[in-house]
Amino acid sequence: MGWRFLSLRSSTDVNLALFNCGNNNVNAFLKDSATTCEDEGFSRVFLMLSDDNKLIGYYTLGNAVVPLAEVPNKYRRGIPQFPFPAMLIGQFGIDIKWQGKGLSYLLVGNAYTRIAQAYTQGISAFRAVRVDTQENDDEARRFWLKQGFIPFKKSTNSLFLPVMTILKELELP
Ligand SMILES: CC(C)(COP(=O)(O)OP(=O)(O)OC[C@H]1O[C@@H](n2cnc3c(N)ncnc32)[C@H](O)[C@@H]1OP(=O)(O)O)[C@@H](O)C(=O)NCCC(=O)NCCS
Repeated sequence: MGWRFLSLRSSTDVNLALFNCGNNNVNAFLKDSATTCEDEGFSRVFLMLSDDNKLIGYYTLGNAVVPLAEVPNKYRRGIPQFPFPAMLIGQFGIDIKWQGKGLSYLLVGNAYTRIAQAYTQGISAFRAVRVDTQENDDEARRFWLKQGFIPFKKSTNSLFLPVMTILKELELP
């Protein structure tokens, strides 16, 4: 099976309403809000498509901050005491037809590559990637913990990953 990644802007003939990752909010965002959010500058939407143009998964990128009070002390030493500017992975899902095959690693990898590009090209400055899970969604939280994300100090639904961790993973300077 082959796949490719495309921005929502450059995708045609993809039926967003058919996407079902088992999470109603993630499904509904794609169907009802993704195009408007893309057009109005709230988020960038990226699709993972199969060779025959079926929607395997998607994620969004946006901007956010990580409040300083949520950052464990070891990540705050020797730097200005400002909130961390961050990129936000706002939505993330793999269609249930393709779940359990390791494809989430490819989706995460594609998000990391774009985030690293934004950082290394010197266009935007940020220190972290933030994700927010829904209340009591322990599975989503476990998923991000597995990817190496660090829980906020107080808000248990949010996690972050230092951008340097991503650059190291991708072996970028
Ligand atoms: C979470 C999700 C993206 C995983 O996709 P997937 O293609 O089934 O995952 P993979 O097959 O790539 O598995 C990746 C790893 O995550 C683990 N994993 C998969 N689903 C998981 C879940 N729901 N919770 C915790 N861990 C999970 C797998 O065991 C695997 O770990 P391993 O490599 O050590 O075996 C998918 O279940 C999904 O879309 N869920 C609904 C939306 C959602 O919860 N989004 C994420 C949070 S915002």
